[in-house]
Amino acid sequence: MLYSEKVMDHFMHPRNVGVIENADGVGEVGNAKCGDIMRIYLKIDNDIISDVKFETFGCGSAIASSSMSTEMIKGKPLSDALALTNKAVTEALDGLPAHKIHCSVLAEGAIKAAIKDYYDKNGIEYDHNVFKDVEHEHSEE
Ligand code: FES
Repeated sequence: MLYSEKVMDHFMHPRNVGVIENADGVGEVGNAKCGDIMRIYLKIDNDIISDVKFETFGCGSAIASSSMSTEMIKGKPLSDALALTNKAVTEALDGLPAHKIHCSVLAEGAIKAAIKDYYDKNGIEYDHNVFKDVEHEHSEE
């Protein structure tokens, strides 16, 4: 079968879908390969992600990887969320087909963009290198 059971589970029953009103950080990225869009909402208390929700126009693989990534960062410090890679997400999903890897990058990018938004809104200093990809993607739009 093309997709693992975990991918199918997270696609059929995605966790953390929706919107957070008055979110502390919102991040949106577009996928250069397919044009799909992902938005992440974060609620942050004392550097901990107390809640996270996502909305996407992406495909099933994007939904599954967003669902998995939100589960992986919920309740975690921002530093953990910043360190999350799409590789870790696809591994947690027991893999994605090679031509679907670009879909899992959406979640990683949108999480970073949401954290950057939080830092910007609160005047918190940060290392711009960490957000290079996100800033790059935005300048391409
Ligand atoms: Fe666009 Fe998967 S094809 S996110």
